[in-house]
Amino acid sequence: MSEPIRSIEDLNLESITTFIRVDFNVPLKNGEVTDDTRIRAALPTIRYALEQGARVVLASHLGRPKGKVVPELSLEPVAIRLAELLDDGEVRLTDDCIGDGARKVVQDLRDGQVALLENLRFHAAEKDNDFDFARELGGSCSAYVNDAFGAAHRAHASVSALPRLMQERAAGFLMQRELEVLDKLRTDTPRPYIAILGGAKVSDKIGVMEALLGKVDALLVGGAMANTFLAARGLNVGKSLCESDKLALARSLMAAAEESQVDLLLPIDVRVGDSIESGEAHVAGIDAIPADAMALDIGPETERLYRDRLRRAMAVFWNGPMGLFENAAFAEGTLAVARAAADCPGFSVVGGGDSVAAVKQADLANRFDHVSTGGGASLEYLEGRPLPGVEALQP
Ligand code: 3PG
Repeated sequence: MSEPIRSIEDLNLESITTFIRVDFNVPLKNGEVTDDTRIRAALPTIRYALEQGARVVLASHLGRPKGKVVPELSLEPVAIRLAELLDDGEVRLTDDCIGDGARKVVQDLRDGQVALLENLRFHAAEKDNDFDFARELGGSCSAYVNDAFGAAHRAHASVSALPRLMQERAAGFLMQRELEVLDKLRTDTPRPYIAILGGAKVSDKIGVMEALLGKVDALLVGGAMANTFLAARGLNVGKSLCESDKLALARSLMAAAEESQVDLLLPIDVRVGDSIESGEAHVAGIDAIPADAMALDIGPETERLYRDRLRRAMAVFWNGPMGLFENAAFAEGTLAVARAAADCPGFSVVGGGDSVAAVKQADLANRFDHVSTGGGASLEYLEGRPLPGVEALQP
């Protein structure tokens, strides 16, 4: 057995320049942060480090600027929001994450002060997991804390190379909480354990589906990925989004579910429209999807079926919406599942940008036991894949 990862509480942070990798990859509109959940989620770690007298250096990526400076992806709006959340404390944003300017800002920090490095992904070396870049990034820091669970599945320099170069490395509170919760869904999970998977593509969820088949009692499928399963069963899905090159894969997943005696539930009815802009939904049985229509949400009978399963669940994991919930005409299935998952008697976890947005839209976030800040990261962790950001923290 490997030794447990250290916690930020195990580090001596007084007067220590501490690099904290956070996931401030937040949505922006007109230069303002539209959802600050991820910033708030990192506050306990940041506040703790400040209280201990650390000199805090925060670092994050934002979007996918592909190694170039993209002014719209500057972390400036994040620095402004963070300063507000830190009771109007000062957050010094560097002009670049490396170089003379950044080094000076970091070296001038005093105990209890905060700097935020500019977007790490303005340098291709971040994604390349480049050790020289990592050395430059953390050169003035003596301790490393990873609180970026949402980016822990990326083998990037600030997540993987840098902690390996640092003697003093630990997980922040958010990272610890995410791993602790998801561990409950990996081993000794209370039964019945129900997973709900939605979203556009089966191909994005193959690994997690295979892993979950060995653990759950039922897998409820919705979203466009359900169309691929329906087509694989020989049904006509009209103009619906469907991965026609993944039918064999869908069949093999259905066969694997049968073999593992897991109920893989598919929609029994759907809400259809003529296009994704359609303002009107019609309910159709899955054997009567009109040739010129698109299935854009699960139907009311399916809602009932899924709700019934969730009513008895002692553990629920949900990733991916049941339909095009951004369009009010096709939001009901996702919202119904959100309510049913929140109401289950057991332990409920939701992860993934879209499903979390749906949960917030329905004002249900505090009725889930855990709202994960990581979509891809939570899926890979449940799949049983090692997360580079967690591996690099091992003592
Ligand atoms: C996320 O938003 O899921 C994380 O911040 C990771 O972002 P990425 O998918 O661009 O690596």
